[in-house]
Amino acid sequence: MAARILLLAALVISITCSDIAFAFDPSPLQDFCVADLQKPVLVNGYACKDPKLVKAEDFYFSGLNREGNTSNPFGSIATRITVTQVPGFNTLGISIARADFAPGGVNPPHFHPRATEILTVLKGTLEAGFVTSNPENRLFTKVLRPGDLFVAPKGMIHFQKNIGRGKAVALASLGSQNPGVVTVPNTVFGSHPRISTDILAKAFQVDQFRIQQIQKNF
Ligand SMILES: *[C@@H]1O[C@H](CO)[C@@H](O)[C@H](O)[C@H]1NC(C)=O
Repeated sequence: MAARILLLAALVISITCSDIAFAFDPSPLQDFCVADLQKPVLVNGYACKDPKLVKAEDFYFSGLNREGNTSNPFGSIATRITVTQVPGFNTLGISIARADFAPGGVNPPHFHPRATEILTVLKGTLEAGFVTSNPENRLFTKVLRPGDLFVAPKGMIHFQKNIGRGKAVALASLGSQNPGVVTVPNTVFGSHPRISTDILAKAFQVDQFRIQQIQKNF
């Protein structure tokens, strides 16, 4: 009987642990697995390049010092550096992005389906926030200045606004080689094809004309 209980406990622990392991980018089983972006093999990530052919450039990117062009309706732009730009990110569970903000610029509510984010402000003043899942939908916000960071947990809707007088710059460190991004206004109002206006009118509790007006912007 005691042996059976032990066995059951071991089984429960192993199932729980394996769930934790599979919830994130896979742990590397070698020093590196530089992505071979040309190989036709489809795995969870990319197939590894022959280690003998790996070069320092595979782990390198230059250009994050360059300011992004914020001349768009949001007044902000994200320059994302994922496994596509740095093949060395493959299987390591990391990537990075630079975010530029014009004065008053907003990085609209969005989420990363595969990554937690640490946003570190390098220049200017940002208001950053995220909202928790249902039913609480609690909003956490913070004003950030250079050297300050704020976390957006994986899958949570988050946003930033430049509330300073000048431009603002931040670096986003992400816990996935391919974090993905779902921008709420673009996906809800700018899908291809459009979500029916009657569905969105009901969802947002406004009339269909109001929905059509918003859809025109996306
Ligand atoms: C920034 O983008 C706008 C709109 O696309 C364009 O008109 C402008 O020339 C760009 N500026 C630079 C410096 O590339």
